[in-house]
Amino acid sequence: ATIDKLFQPVQDKTDDTGSKVTVVGVGQVGMAAVFSLLTQGVTNNIALVDVMADKLKGEMMDLQHGSAFMRNAKIQASTDYSISAGSKLCIITAGVRQREGESRLDLVQRNTDILKHIIPPLVEHSPDAIFVIASNPVDILTYVTWKISGLPKHRVIGSGTNLDSARFRYLLSERLGIAPTSCHGYIIGEHGDSSVPVWSGVNIAGVRLSDLNPKIGTEADTENWKETHEMVVTSAYEVIKLKGYTSWAIGLSLSQLARAILSNANSVHAVSTYLKGEHGIEDEVFLSLPCVLGSTGVSDVIRQPLTDSETQQLRKSAELMAQVQAGIRF
Ligand code: NAI
Ligand code: LAC
Repeated sequence: ATIDKLFQPVQDKTDDTGSKVTVVGVGQVGMAAVFSLLTQGVTNNIALVDVMADKLKGEMMDLQHGSAFMRNAKIQASTDYSISAGSKLCIITAGVRQREGESRLDLVQRNTDILKHIIPPLVEHSPDAIFVIASNPVDILTYVTWKISGLPKHRVIGSGTNLDSARFRYLLSERLGIAPTSCHGYIIGEHGDSSVPVWSGVNIAGVRLSDLNPKIGTEADTENWKETHEMVVTSAYEVIKLKGYTSWAIGLSLSQLARAILSNANSVHAVSTYLKGEHGIEDEVFLSLPCVLGSTGVSDVIRQPLTDSETQQLRKSAELMAQVQAGIRF
């Protein structure tokens, strides 16, 4: 046969294409994440899971047709969770998204009910995986995933304010005229409406803007830098109003977190993690602080010095999360 005339076999091939990533939910967020993971070479082994069989097959085929432009990744898709077996990382983007006028918190019970169907089979097939949750409200659903999965808390991570911090850095870069990668700053707390900008830490090359403008971020600041954070909070609502959903930035954010985990980078990212005991928080809630991310998940939480106001805002978010969690029907 032709293939026999073409190849002189010298040893068996392996079908091991490296660390496997399962993405559950092949909607706008899931596919933006998958496209980022593949084109950035974060993984060469992807499994897609969803309830919509045709969409799954269509997305898988469409990506496979792009293989000549990538690194010949192994791309599988099925409504059957066995396809996810042996994953190093499971990224959850399944669920309903907010419509115009809805907040992320309005989605909590609908998406909790979806997680009840998704998490157990994923844990059964990949008991050692790290879980990264994007579905909203992401801080609550990260807690829900932790409770449903029974996994150690630092292997269940929410994309959290990694996205908010990226938006913040972009807006700072627009004001300062330099690259966002050179604008350092963290937004912590709840992903969304009650996020907290840590102005005391915002710096360019170690030069803290708060040293140059001690009122930065406050009502008394005549330059109104706090508007930058306000724009972060409204950004998702604005994009949803314009295009119906957000996808590219969260997809790239998930790809960055995946790279940190799969490469054991031990790089620092603001992600939603178990915060009981940090900054005087007493409830079992997940909110974002800068964390060290590696192949075991969150290895360290950065002890950020916060002003009294920043601490109070964080505690207020924690109380809100605890209230919402108390109302969840598991
Ligand atoms: P989408 O509607 O485009 O995709 C959702 C997908 O979930 C659909 O393909 C649907 O079939 C699937 N799905 C629904 N029930 C399922 C189940 N039981 N098992 C498996 N798959 C199921 O929605 P989109 O725009 O991708 O948003 C997804 C989620 O991500 C929403 O909750 C949204 O709020 C959230 N999101 C979070 C962000 C963050 O920063 N954390 C940013 C943007 C969106
Ligand atoms: C965001 C919303 C959808 O893009 O969570 O921030």
